[in-house]
Amino acid sequence: MTRRIDTAAARDVLIANDRGGYTVPTSRLYPFQWNWDSAFVAMGWATFDEERAWRELERLVEGQWADGMVPHIVFHAPSDDYFPGPDVWGTHHSPPTSGISQPPVLASAVKFVFDHAKGADAAKRAEGLYHAALASHRWWAIARDPEGTGLVAILHPWESGMDNSPAWDEAFARVPAEPRTEIRRRDTAHVGAAMRPHDDDYRRYIHLVDIFREAGWDASALWEKAPFKVADLAINAILQRAEQDLAHLAERFGSEAEKAEISARIEKRARALSALWSEERGLYQPLDLISGARIDVSTSAGFLPLFAGLPSADQARRMAAEIVRWRGKVAHGVPSTSPFDPRFEPKRYWRGPVWGVVNYMIAEGLAAYELTEEADAIRADTRGLISSQGFAEYFDPTTGEGLGGGSFSWTAAIALLLSR
Ligand code: GLC
Repeated sequence: MTRRIDTAAARDVLIANDRGGYTVPTSRLYPFQWNWDSAFVAMGWATFDEERAWRELERLVEGQWADGMVPHIVFHAPSDDYFPGPDVWGTHHSPPTSGISQPPVLASAVKFVFDHAKGADAAKRAEGLYHAALASHRWWAIARDPEGTGLVAILHPWESGMDNSPAWDEAFARVPAEPRTEIRRRDTAHVGAAMRPHDDDYRRYIHLVDIFREAGWDASALWEKAPFKVADLAINAILQRAEQDLAHLAERFGSEAEKAEISARIEKRARALSALWSEERGLYQPLDLISGARIDVSTSAGFLPLFAGLPSADQARRMAAEIVRWRGKVAHGVPSTSPFDPRFEPKRYWRGPVWGVVNYMIAEGLAAYELTEEADAIRADTRGLISSQGFAEYFDPTTGEGLGGGSFSWTAAIALLLSR
């Protein structure tokens, strides 16, 4: 049976989570503007309110730093519901922001909104955002790949957007669980602790923030001091896709020099990313830049190079088969960690649950390879989960149960994108 999404209800989630030009991921648990959430949410808004879609992205870049970084959180208005707040980050930006970034979906969102825009001011707004996205891509290349390898690094698991993925276990274990800042977790007051990262993870998360704050948030000092450096697939694949979307926007808004700069980064990153393919595992794997070792893990991030058109046709088919194999083991796909991996936990955040935004990107990728049946199966599964469970933060792949925060903005946005 094909279930239908209640698009009016999806719109209502965005409207209810609107705090004046920006959308919180959900009330209470995440009371500020989050970077990659907002990019997907802007695409969701674009399906019914173009003005609001532009505002979402413009408010996000209000948090952009002078060096080009788009922070993972913009604290537009105070709230006691979340830890760590601006005092712990201590970044001295106005508006207050965190000091790390998140998967750079921005340029892809700008292209999406512009492609669907009808307003007279659309080109002007897209042009402003084009320059913001360009500055952010330069930041990734300079601050997070200072050695020019073609792969950018995350210095904190939160930057990947996949906070407690088993992909970080080994590299993260080297980070001392000794924060100087007192931990005042608020998340477990809003949702059950069994669905959230462990306390020890939080000690390490905050230890990293302490190191970076004490280094004054200077990009080269962070690079030198970071005890955690990983070339993550979500970041690199999403950035690679975003560069392609930026190149497209540059045809309209960019200079010849900018076009050349973007395509040079695309070529270099494509070469570096293709070395992360694992024929044996049927997906791409991240690289621990401190130990120099490939991280032998199978997570949904490893399929995201599909979204960047990176794999060969054979590799894309191999990944599609691997996804089918995972979905054969659990009831719903795509689980964030392989259900064949002993670290798979169906209810714990990024260690197993299904996330709508990831499914959206994987399905877009598969469809671009004309793997239509596989793409449609993921889309139908995602629609089914949302229509039966509502706009949950994520879903248990074994039971389909909606988990985490409710009335979640990016899940509503994906619902709108999948209902077109
Ligand atoms: C969690 C997720 C992250 C998301 C944020 C807000 O931290 O891991 O990806 O951006 O919540 O929804």
